[in-house]
Amino acid sequence: MFASKIINWYQKNKRPLPWREINNTYFIWLSEIILQQTRVAQGLPYYERFIDAFPTIEKLALASEQEVLALWQGLGYYSRARNLHKCAKEVVNRYGGTLPSSYGQLLKLPGIGPYTAAAIASLGFNEPVPVVDGNVYRVLARVFGIKENIADSKSFGLFFERSKELIDKEKPGDYNQAVMELGATICLPQNPTCMECPLEAMCYANERKMQAELPVKVKRIRKRDRFLTYLVFEAGDRLALRKREENDIWKGLFEFYKLEGDELYSIDTLPDIELMSVLLKTKTTIKEEVRLPKHLLSHQTIFNSFIYVCVQPTQEMLSWMQQNNLALYSRKEIEMLPKPVLITRYLNSVSK
Ligand code: ADE
Repeated sequence: MFASKIINWYQKNKRPLPWREINNTYFIWLSEIILQQTRVAQGLPYYERFIDAFPTIEKLALASEQEVLALWQGLGYYSRARNLHKCAKEVVNRYGGTLPSSYGQLLKLPGIGPYTAAAIASLGFNEPVPVVDGNVYRVLARVFGIKENIADSKSFGLFFERSKELIDKEKPGDYNQAVMELGATICLPQNPTCMECPLEAMCYANERKMQAELPVKVKRIRKRDRFLTYLVFEAGDRLALRKREENDIWKGLFEFYKLEGDELYSIDTLPDIELMSVLLKTKTTIKEEVRLPKHLLSHQTIFNSFIYVCVQPTQEMLSWMQQNNLALYSRKEIEMLPKPVLITRYLNSVSK
């Protein structure tokens, strides 16, 4: 009943999305990775740009990491983009450029977890394996009155097993998309439009007016505060940036010279003695100090300060930059570099 009702509804009401029009497992994979990061409306232009730049898995595998990160810019959680790239290379090396066709093989690829493997296997290869994402939690918890805490990792197995009983074995791809589509367009987190829902008459939450209480999600994360002071060195119209190599947020993206501590620094309190001594011997002008509103990431709050320093490109200054992996880039070059959104915000704020 559940499966046939939502599949019927889906076939009449699905949004016409580009990866739904042709059966191409690369397009399905890419769209699902992007949609783990953002909603359809925001994700579509990213999808189009990726497909234009890399129409096949081989093309994606041959791209440089920088090109891939630049196209991903703004979506956040950049390890997804790096894994996408790494996975494309592995698919070329191990499978000749075509994704393998079973859930089990897909799961072994980098960056492909249970959700993505199930989406590719069911939408692309008709394997009856269910997807479990936020939409699925919400729809099933409401329709069947499941009160498990979905923030608890144990819930995944419960929803996965329940979905295995519910899935349509003939049309697993339509079934999976139908649940997600219902969750994305009708069974919304806030103010679901139950009167338009094909499951209205059989829904536990609708009958008891418990839509706001289900699914149960109790999360306890303590956000970490971080204090980043950036020194923006300008030498002859060019700015010094470096690529982040640390295993941390923003790996592979470009930023200015950074000092991190338990507080923000000003030019007089910089805790970097070597830098201070180089600056003292070089003709410098401090142009301005800018603090942007705190930058919110899912697990961190970034307090920030940008100190703009014009320096003479003396031998000592340049060699200090080199030792610290900084290189000078023109404004045009900086536009092309993949950067954290915070850095782009700063650049936009000073160019006005
Ligand atoms: N959200 C993520 N993947 C989706 C899909 N295939 N259909 C609808 N919503 C989605």
